[in-house]
Amino acid sequence: MASIGVESIPGARRLIKSLRDMGYEFEAAVADLIDNSIAARASTIRINPHWDGANSFVSIADNGLGMSAQELREALRFGSERDYDDDDLGKFGLGLKTASLSQCKRLVVASRQNESRADINAYCWDMSHIEATNKWEILPVRTADLPEVARLHLKETTGTVVIWQELDRILGYNNPNGEPARRRLIEMCGKLEEHVAMVFHRFLENKVRGKRLAIYFNEHKVMPWDPFVANEPKRKSLEPLSLRVEGHGGRSDIVFEPHVLPAQSMFSSPEAHKRASGPSQWNRQQGFYIYRADRLIQSGGWCSIRTLDEHLKLARIAVFFQPKLDEEFKINVPKMKVAFPAEIRSDLEKAVKIWTKVADETYRNANKTVAGASPPPVPTNPATLVGKATSLKTPASTTTASALAAAAGSSTSIVLASRSGGGVTIEELTRVGKLLKRVAKPDEMQAIDAAVVRAHSTLED
Ligand SMILES: Nc1ncnc2c1ncn2[C@@H]1O[C@H](COP(=O)(O)OP(=O)(O)OP(=O)(O)O)[C@@H](O)[C@H]1O
Ligand SMILES: [Mg+2]
Repeated sequence: MASIGVESIPGARRLIKSLRDMGYEFEAAVADLIDNSIAARASTIRINPHWDGANSFVSIADNGLGMSAQELREALRFGSERDYDDDDLGKFGLGLKTASLSQCKRLVVASRQNESRADINAYCWDMSHIEATNKWEILPVRTADLPEVARLHLKETTGTVVIWQELDRILGYNNPNGEPARRRLIEMCGKLEEHVAMVFHRFLENKVRGKRLAIYFNEHKVMPWDPFVANEPKRKSLEPLSLRVEGHGGRSDIVFEPHVLPAQSMFSSPEAHKRASGPSQWNRQQGFYIYRADRLIQSGGWCSIRTLDEHLKLARIAVFFQPKLDEEFKINVPKMKVAFPAEIRSDLEKAVKIWTKVADETYRNANKTVAGASPPPVPTNPATLVGKATSLKTPASTTTASALAAAAGSSTSIVLASRSGGGVTIEELTRVGKLLKRVAKPDEMQAIDAAVVRAHSTLED
């Protein structure tokens, strides 16, 4: 039967202008291209900003699989089609175009797929052409017209080079040849390196199986920035938590790995403390670090579970989820922000109370020590709390009575101050257990008993 549908093709001129304003920041736009290079199995990515006034450009070159002419034309289509792996960084078929055109008016993509022949395919999206024709047309680009950096790169290896030309958004000045425009490019590139070092740190540290990666920025190697300072001896890693979600894409676990960083005075050196501060500085870097397929989407902040707090700036929690749960995490095209699935929020709130309590105490104790007072005790024995909806475990290395109270859902905050200045005694623990039971609801009794018994046995050990 003949279709009665009438094709309604979007107006290229107007729609492409709107798509330029999707809300990408420069760093996030480059990160989107790096995603593509990783998905194309690149092991080396080279980012080169090139200053030449109005002719300035940024190139991102990889040594991945490259694309045939046909694949390249499809890649440049808005809403391009391909099959995605379970841990694929791509999703929408848009990033290459939307990220690039959010920063520039001319996007050139050159690619070489064949290892034995140095044939290069290249096409471009050119805003002036769209303005003139109002058509969804890409234009072929001759190899001879490519910037030298692209030609040289693809002479050596298969892979893809993305070139951003006519950097109207990056230079952002009426006079793109002027000194302010040059300074702006340099400044943005400084931030870019920091961002890339953070977002892809797991790949740069070779923590992602089968995906070794090196990124060079102007020929200099980007060193990973680890938000959790794994090499600091005084860092505390608390017990991980795993929450299962039935997503639209299938069942999958969200894994939380909470860490409490050392206070300033406990860092191995002032430089190490400064480095750990991160792109947005200590206070704003507290909270969740949310990874989708090992790529960092959101760094810091509490996702409306609580507010930022100076006393909690040592708390950093890694959160890992797989693309199966994209819908539940409400991932969007720029992949800069997500939200937690509603069904895990109440369990997560309980866990956050425990984690932040430890961070708060670590911070306060260190400050007291610095001020010359003897530090109050932080018990070093683990206690396991069996919660209602989920298995919530308190930190493996530290727990406190007040954390127990918080975990049991009590609004009463009980702080144990040991007279001796040593660890918590069995008598004190028993007293806390009794106090907790006074304020607990009937269905919380069992969890408190379990926690106290467990804490007792570890104390006796
Ligand atoms: N560097 C590259 N090497 C090889 N193929 C690439 C590269 N960049 C893009 N592609 C191809 O172009 C397609 C379109 O990329 P684009 O970023 O627009 O969408 P996506 O990665 O599929 O999804 P998303 O919009 O979530 O990023 C990719 O699916 C991939 O097939
Ligand atoms: Mg992509």
